[in-house]
Amino acid sequence: MINKCLLPVAGYGTRFLPATKSSPKEMLPIVNKPLIEYAVQETVEAGLTRIGFVTGRGKRAIEDHFDKNYELEDQIRGTGKEDLLQATRDLIDQCEFSYTRQKEMKGLGHAILTGETLIGDEPFAVVLADDLCFGGDDGVLAQMVKLFDQYRCSIVAVEEVPDDSIHQYGVIAGEAIHEGIYRVTDMIEKPSIEDAPSNFGIIGRYILTPDIFELLRNTLPGKNGEIQITDALKMQAEQGCVLAYRFKGRRFDCGSIDGFVEATNFCYEKFYKNGL
Ligand code: UTP
Repeated sequence: MINKCLLPVAGYGTRFLPATKSSPKEMLPIVNKPLIEYAVQETVEAGLTRIGFVTGRGKRAIEDHFDKNYELEDQIRGTGKEDLLQATRDLIDQCEFSYTRQKEMKGLGHAILTGETLIGDEPFAVVLADDLCFGGDDGVLAQMVKLFDQYRCSIVAVEEVPDDSIHQYGVIAGEAIHEGIYRVTDMIEKPSIEDAPSNFGIIGRYILTPDIFELLRNTLPGKNGEIQITDALKMQAEQGCVLAYRFKGRRFDCGSIDGFVEATNFCYEKFYKNGL
């Protein structure tokens, strides 16, 4: 059974400068809730309550967000404003949070390897908060946990991406084994359109088996000089099995300004207007 989730939040978020100069990108709000809280909510809804953050310099606001703020809470006690904090308080009560720091930003693969100390020798999920996902009845991570119970191997969530943005994704080649489920045969990080083996791009939801750590230790810097999780997953796929899952639902790339604005408009219409 999976009960741990790693949230790498060490990146600089340079696309959002100057907003991210001294504030974490993951604390940017979509309407009135920070991105990181949506991520933790999805994780808890999938039944995973042991949350490990891989943080870096300037990310302390995330720790504070998932802690009590006695002075503020005292100030609003008994007023209608308490309701605004209730969902956050519920998450804090349900979860056990732990933190480790990535000292140098050497890529997502390196961030995940840094999180080994919080995970140990068990399968775990990885959620990137800048991909904001909404599923149907089940959230995207909950769908993947169900799939893991069936197949017991690493799983990446994929979606079809347009040709002109394929170079921004890790892209898979795979054989369909079931509707929406592919056995991965190849993976390329940020390929040109000519080299892309399909139009299925990996988004920020993973379930990984713990042998990934040893593979990451043996992964050399790849695209952009970073240690890429896709390179380690490719090795894992060659040695055993990695699945790609075409999730049900909608995902917003909140690491980009356009995706962030789109997500904001979507959430405002869908949730906030009717009382989030
Ligand atoms: P991104 O490359 O999208 O995030 O990494 P970034 O580097 O923060 O953003 P830009 O490109 O400068 O605007 C995807 C995720 O992986 C984490 C980031 O925090 C983000 O959630 N990450 C990336 C790390 O934790 N460590 C790294 O070394 C790299």
